[in-house]
Amino acid sequence: MAGWFPHLYDTAMQPLEKMRFEQIRSGLVRKAEGRVLEIGFGTGANFRFYRNAERIDAIEPNPVMSKKAIKRIKKTGTPIATYQATAEELPFADDSFDTVVATLVFCTIPDPEQALREIQRVSKPGARILMFEHVLMDQKVLGKTQAALTPLWKKLCDGCHLDRDTLWLVANSGLEVDKVTSYYKGLFLTIESRYVQ
Ligand SMILES: C[S@@+](CC[C@H](N)C(=O)[O-])C[C@H]1O[C@@H](n2cnc3c(N)ncnc32)[C@H](O)[C@@H]1O
Repeated sequence: MAGWFPHLYDTAMQPLEKMRFEQIRSGLVRKAEGRVLEIGFGTGANFRFYRNAERIDAIEPNPVMSKKAIKRIKKTGTPIATYQATAEELPFADDSFDTVVATLVFCTIPDPEQALREIQRVSKPGARILMFEHVLMDQKVLGKTQAALTPLWKKLCDGCHLDRDTLWLVANSGLEVDKVTSYYKGLFLTIESRYVQ
């Protein structure tokens, strides 16, 4: 793990958050309803944007990241229970959640296909899966640049793959993709999908 990452994450992200990400998070996360699972909540950047969730179960494997979320959890009106766990092995029963939220996390999950299987296992039929991710760009030269940078980037940024084709992974996981919105020429996407049994 890159030792600096949890300590500088919020500071490094602040310009992007202010420029656009807060607005994107807010628009996406307010769609989360009922019992919500958040995957890899990090420092809790999404917590203040929940409006319609009844309760949130949130998982994060890195205790240094989750420690930084404590203040945000206290300020959130919605009940939040946190767990130290990975997306590939979710500590929840089948058919538990109405909504699953994952932001800027599928780039880092070591086995994203297993994570998508686990998300479907714990989702109720009809559950919404709301994601905001940076992805492999369609534009060939930019995509190749992302692939070339990924080995170094992974070392610097805690395992993050710049060239992960998360939309393809979601579409091929059995989830039904309802809506995709592109930001920054396709570098970032929101992907809204649904678990249909
Ligand atoms: C770039 S941070 C994003 C944090 C937060 N979701 C956000 O939007 O700011 C990526 C997060 O994914 C977490 N992560 C890494 N591997 C994971 C896994 N296998 N399952 C779940 N989360 C994971 C990391 O610990 C880190 O907190």
